[in-house]
Amino acid sequence: MDTKTKQIRENERLSHTEIYTKEKLYDTDTWLKKPIKTIQEIIPLLFGCKGLRILDLGCGVGRNSIFLAEKLGTENDCRIDCVDILDIAIYKLNQYALEYGVSDNINGIVSSIEDFIIQENSYDLIIAVSALEHIDGEENFIKKLEEIKNGLKKNGTVCLVINSNVKEINSETSEELEPQFEVNLRSEKIQEYLNKIFLEFEIIKNHIVVQEYNIPRGPINSKLTTDVITFVAKSITEPSR
Ligand SMILES: C[S@@+](CC[C@H](N)C(=O)[O-])C[C@H]1O[C@@H](n2cnc3c(N)ncnc32)[C@H](O)[C@@H]1O
Repeated sequence: MDTKTKQIRENERLSHTEIYTKEKLYDTDTWLKKPIKTIQEIIPLLFGCKGLRILDLGCGVGRNSIFLAEKLGTENDCRIDCVDILDIAIYKLNQYALEYGVSDNINGIVSSIEDFIIQENSYDLIIAVSALEHIDGEENFIKKLEEIKNGLKKNGTVCLVINSNVKEINSETSEELEPQFEVNLRSEKIQEYLNKIFLEFEIIKNHIVVQEYNIPRGPINSKLTTDVITFVAKSITEPSR
């Protein structure tokens, strides 16, 4: 891993550790306040499926997975494999799973997304929310998209939220900062990859929204602008891809 990637990883570790330690899931004014809207919208697609297998890549403390487990857990006999590189994320995820009574449905795994091999034809839903842009380079990013495609069962759904065109500036001095994302591609490029890899899928949602956040970067407050791509698609072919 190159020095720049190592530095980004360390900064990410510090900022996520801070938020996961200080803020409480669903009881905060930060992004941990609620699951993303797209995940809430996906639930009806999964009602009625028994033995549901879900994968959440870069799950954090379970903002989306705890919600999915609560909605689908018992009725749908659902198991969610939750992968995150940080011990503290998985430790907190397990605590929240206990608190929300969904421990039987949540399987926390400490691993990088790169090292976690997605078995073929295994999942009904694979989600990665603000996570794939932290893979260690464009080549592995494309490889993981292929693995996600092959990891889905027939009628399986993929739900990706990916930041692109990320720019960061010091909010006090307006000085440009190095965006803390391992993969920072143009949105057109990411969409090109998505359209090519998920060519045979039925596209349910594919849009880009410009967003702005204030993010603490050590002693500096960063104003971050990003084109957020939301991509939801359903596999409609047999998984002998
Ligand atoms: C912005 S948070 C999003 C968390 C969660 N998906 C959500 O929507 O609440 C990104 C998460 O990805 C994790 N992460 C970053 N790089 C990773 C990698 N290479 N492999 C696995 N997890 C990673 C971070 O530790 C962090 O918990």
